[in-house]
Amino acid sequence: MKLGKNMEYLVMLPGPTNVPERVTRAMFTPMINHRSEDFVELYEPCVEKTKQIFQTEGEAVCLSASGTGAVEASVINLIKKGDRVILPVNGEFSGRLAQMLTWAGADVIKIETEPGQNATYDQVKEVFDNNKNIKAFYCVWNETSTGTMINYLDRIKNLTSRDDSYYVVDGVSIVGGEELQMDNWGIDVCMTGAQKAFAAPPGISPICVNARTKKYMMDNPPNSMYFNLSKYFKYYEESKHTPFTPAIPLLYAYNEALNIILEEGLDNRIRRHRICSDALYSGLSAIGLTPFAQKDSRSTVVVALNYLDGLEDKIFRDTLAQKFRVLVAGGFGNLKGKVFRVGCMGEVNKYHVMRTISAISSTLSMMGYDTDAQAGLKSAEEKLKAL
Ligand SMILES: Cc1ncc(COP(=O)(O)O)c(C=O)c1O
Repeated sequence: MKLGKNMEYLVMLPGPTNVPERVTRAMFTPMINHRSEDFVELYEPCVEKTKQIFQTEGEAVCLSASGTGAVEASVINLIKKGDRVILPVNGEFSGRLAQMLTWAGADVIKIETEPGQNATYDQVKEVFDNNKNIKAFYCVWNETSTGTMINYLDRIKNLTSRDDSYYVVDGVSIVGGEELQMDNWGIDVCMTGAQKAFAAPPGISPICVNARTKKYMMDNPPNSMYFNLSKYFKYYEESKHTPFTPAIPLLYAYNEALNIILEEGLDNRIRRHRICSDALYSGLSAIGLTPFAQKDSRSTVVVALNYLDGLEDKIFRDTLAQKFRVLVAGGFGNLKGKVFRVGCMGEVNKYHVMRTISAISSTLSMMGYDTDAQAGLKSAEEKLKAL
């Protein structure tokens, strides 16, 4: 029997994630004119709350686009032909960023590490020591394809300050779920996608830019229409509008998602993400799975796990989705069929963690693997006591 389309899933993907009802309902707000005061009343709070979450006094532009749009905007508005850029590469999203930078004409100095491992701070420092005239350092904070997270973002400014290099962070899968102090850490540009740790529907991607970078972008606009940030800055300054028709229902939803984040408080939210990921790592290990990422590089918002020998990706994930209504993601590229990924983002809480471990364990058992669901749940429960 095919299950009804309206039977809800527990969305444990690394984006999109479960969307709270309050946020979904906000999308039903009647339509408004995007060239009116009604729009200002919607958009200005979105901008101001976004800045609060990124911890910046700079500018925020809430693009009607998926995360890739915001990442691409950071490239085409900042990078010119021949610019030297340093970029750690260890997975799908850092690979895509390398491609975008190359297309923009950059001379990309890649710091390549095996998937599942991050370049260390010392490795990054060595590349800065050996290269001069660096226009920008780019990084993918949370490499969603492998479940690794860079945990020294606060120290990079010691390196970027040498040449006044721009410091750009792709925070698409993590902002709102981990600590970020954009201004204090000397980050010039940072972006995310609303469908990840903000727990909003896909389609809005905020990008924050500090004052010196805004000036550069205003003085050197790209030959591009839609993602030309100077147009967004100009329209906002003049009327608090956007240059092109924004996805108004999604902005209503986004605004409500921001309210929920600020009501919970950033510290509480980050703590919850850390505890839940700890419980997922621990519980899923106890049922016999192993995390893909090296221990010191592990993400607190995406848990990537190695498949057990012979476990077929499609059958496993289809069974999990159809029998238990739990959605998890497969691997990318070379990791397809080798890992699966559990999102630990947005609304994630005790219930999500316990149901996910239980469903994964039952699925493994249905597929003939020996797992110990009790051990997994007990171990996760122990960690979740901290919540
Ligand atoms: C780190 C990172 N960057 C960029 C993207 C691209 O975002 P989107 O799929 O919303 O375009 C993703 C998506 O998962 C991501 O995880």
